[in-house]
Amino acid sequence: MKTSEIRRRFLAHFEADGHTVVPSAPLPFDDPNLLFVNAGMVQFVPYFIGQLNAPWQRATSVQKCIRTQDIEEVGKTTRHGTFFQMNGNFSFGDYFKEHAIKMAWDLSTKSISDGGFGLDAERIWATVYLDDEEAVDIWHRVVGLPHERIVRRGKADNYWSMGIPGPCGPCSELYYDRGADYGRPGGPEVDEDRFMEFWNLVFMQNERGAGTTKDDYPILGELPAKNIDTGMGLERMSTLLQGVDNLYEIDETRPILNRAAELTGKQYGLHSGHAATESAPDDVRLRVVADHIRTALMLVGDGVTPDNEGRGYVLRRILRRAVRAMRLLGYDDPALPELLPVARDCMSASYPELASEYDRIAMIAYAEEAAFRRTLVAGTTILDTAVTKAKAAGAESLQGEQAFALHDTYGFPIDLTLEMAAEQGLAVDTEGFARLMQEQRARSKADARGKKSAHADSPAYRDLRERGVTEFTGYGELITESHVRGLVRDGESVPTAGAGEIVEVVLERTPFYAESGGQIADEGVITADDTRLRVLDVQRPVKGLIVHRVQVEEGELHAGQRVVASVDPEWRRSARQAHSGTHVVHAALRQVLGPSALQSGSYNKPGYLRLDFAWNAGLDAATRAQIEDVSNIALREDLPVDVRHMTLAQARELGALALFGETYDETVRVVDIGGAWSRELCGGTHVEHSSQVGALTIVGEASIGAGVRRLEAYVGLEALRYLATERALVTALTENLKVPAAELPERVEALVTRLRAAEKELDRLRAAAVLESAGELAAQSSDIAGTRFVAAQAPKGVTGNDLRSLALDVRARLGASPAAVLLTSEKDDGGVSFVAAVNEAGRSAGLAAGELVKVFAPVIGARGGGKPDLAQGAGGEVAKVEDGFASVRASLAGTPG
Ligand code: SER
Repeated sequence: MKTSEIRRRFLAHFEADGHTVVPSAPLPFDDPNLLFVNAGMVQFVPYFIGQLNAPWQRATSVQKCIRTQDIEEVGKTTRHGTFFQMNGNFSFGDYFKEHAIKMAWDLSTKSISDGGFGLDAERIWATVYLDDEEAVDIWHRVVGLPHERIVRRGKADNYWSMGIPGPCGPCSELYYDRGADYGRPGGPEVDEDRFMEFWNLVFMQNERGAGTTKDDYPILGELPAKNIDTGMGLERMSTLLQGVDNLYEIDETRPILNRAAELTGKQYGLHSGHAATESAPDDVRLRVVADHIRTALMLVGDGVTPDNEGRGYVLRRILRRAVRAMRLLGYDDPALPELLPVARDCMSASYPELASEYDRIAMIAYAEEAAFRRTLVAGTTILDTAVTKAKAAGAESLQGEQAFALHDTYGFPIDLTLEMAAEQGLAVDTEGFARLMQEQRARSKADARGKKSAHADSPAYRDLRERGVTEFTGYGELITESHVRGLVRDGESVPTAGAGEIVEVVLERTPFYAESGGQIADEGVITADDTRLRVLDVQRPVKGLIVHRVQVEEGELHAGQRVVASVDPEWRRSARQAHSGTHVVHAALRQVLGPSALQSGSYNKPGYLRLDFAWNAGLDAATRAQIEDVSNIALREDLPVDVRHMTLAQARELGALALFGETYDETVRVVDIGGAWSRELCGGTHVEHSSQVGALTIVGEASIGAGVRRLEAYVGLEALRYLATERALVTALTENLKVPAAELPERVEALVTRLRAAEKELDRLRAAAVLESAGELAAQSSDIAGTRFVAAQAPKGVTGNDLRSLALDVRARLGASPAAVLLTSEKDDGGVSFVAAVNEAGRSAGLAAGELVKVFAPVIGARGGGKPDLAQGAGGEVAKVEDGFASVRASLAGTPG
């Protein structure tokens, strides 16, 4: 049975039982505690812990998940995948254990012709939490499972939580016996390869606190209701129903593996039996490729772009590991253009957007591979040198500094350094590396920190949120009468705040826009009779709760107080211009470059906007001008801006652009500029007509990572001011150069050309003048113990090559008998340049230029040296030059001729 069919049957089974089908949350889910969604229940946490009321009593979903903590195990076991799909059914205070167990059992064992999975009931085992007699009873009495196949296990195995504070509960897992070929008998406790877990039923009833390990954490209390959270591993069910050995061989990954084998000329599975752990290294590599390529596709598909930190780093690591595995298999050409389309074809039956957005995905992924290939070339040489040095020094590991330098300068991820060093038999000082990384992070995060609400999970917010959502009035008005719902300081609820204090305030209703969707928070004031608060920042730490960080300028503030909240109208006007400007530029970009130039991030504040978008080449001046033109024409057209609310499905149907990493509610806000000309899902504040944006000027465009570019622009008055500054520059230049503006470039180019020619001519003249003095200098020679010797100060500022040429010229003029020359010149920036030269006869007589310099230099306080025929140096004091000459003369006089 195909994976897409298993998925369909699962959802149908639960939909028929009153469950609402909920779409998968995006992998980069908006939760500060998680890098990626790692279980089906993640998007439902607020319902389990009672923070929000669940919109449905029953739900079902197929959730995209990423887990990378076992990345080293990928390919070596049968069950570890970095990307997987979790099919789940959820009850929010509705049904509990019995119905959950029965539903799972029915679907698993119902015949294939009746829409089930047709597993053999005799081969299914169940585990339960130690003393969960209720679950044992249901399995035995209701389902009919014999006691021998009901296994009791402890907290580490059968008590489930997300590994962090939150909902948790005892669980019961279903295992399938794959038969004697796969391992030893005796049930899941004996062999988890033979007995493969395929479904986990969690009886979500408690809330846990922070802890140290899987089974060491406190239970804080009961959840408001008893819930169900189940997770059936879609890939595991495919493994079972497709009769394959492991999850790398199912229909959604095997074609990638096959293509990799074909490209590398390897034959997969020649040596392995059923137990994949015994596999040959090449088989493991092929599985790594299959797994990682699919994961990378899903991550980029969900809007993640490669980066050196956080989510982007996980993607980068996975892509690079796949590329490295291909290289280790002997394939050195770009691999992604061969493999990624195969992954797309595997996955697009369930995720059609992977096909429709493939151009964008491919651009980002291919660019990352290209960047990595360059990195490998540069970094490998450095690494090899470091390895050789470390080995020569008898070290067993590379220093943390070296690993850090590789990371910092060449973008070598630490694990790559580890792997490559290990291949050459060396370890790496990872602690030292981690320390340096930590220091770097602390430096760069220091100022970003202070700003955001640091206590997002504080119970104080939760209490305030329980009293309802904060009504946002700011789309329609800038001044709103309201009441103070509560105050929070350092995560704790406080009753009052006095003058001078900084505190967080929640109002019942507010016109202040909280930072989101790239738009920064509004500025303004909140006032009451004698009280005045300046709003410093506005955030939404919990969904539905708007929190103002304020400074109390005058008076006192207390909960329940009546206040008037006023957004600074000038600020908001400019903020609206910037946000609408961002939509306009985005639409213009996609018109000019094509639809794959999709926004991957944005930031806008009054007067300024920046937009990150998928593209892998710089934009030339003409393209930039064209984008600017399309934007400004759209402003001039005075396109109407319309805002509508509709379901997500309707918005998608209308072609509205939804952005990555954003989670949207059932009802979404769609902002149109000129109808479909620009149509985006957006919660921001906008102008009413495009002409209100005023003007837009692009001021920068650059790469910010593989396949991602950043465009910056000014809007409204700022755009005009920027242009005015540029005009002032041009005016200054036209006045100085006395040409009309249009002729400036030509004039400047002509000036530069002339200047270069003049400099060359000057050099030539100077050299000629210096050489002309050679005759004069030669005439000053005297005889010292049979050597013709010239010691003289050349004109000031003759340095380097010129002084050397001069010395050689003087030496040539002294004839064929032994001769030596010592010339100096005062340098323009202080100090002395000096050159000594000795001719062939002089050298035969035992003189050496280097020796003369060694006599001369210390006297003037300089250093220098060189060969017997020519030597030079610099430094010292001009005032001592004559003393230096005297020393050299004395030394020549003492030299036997
Ligand atoms: N949350 C449980 C798990 O991830 C069941 O869905 O295994």
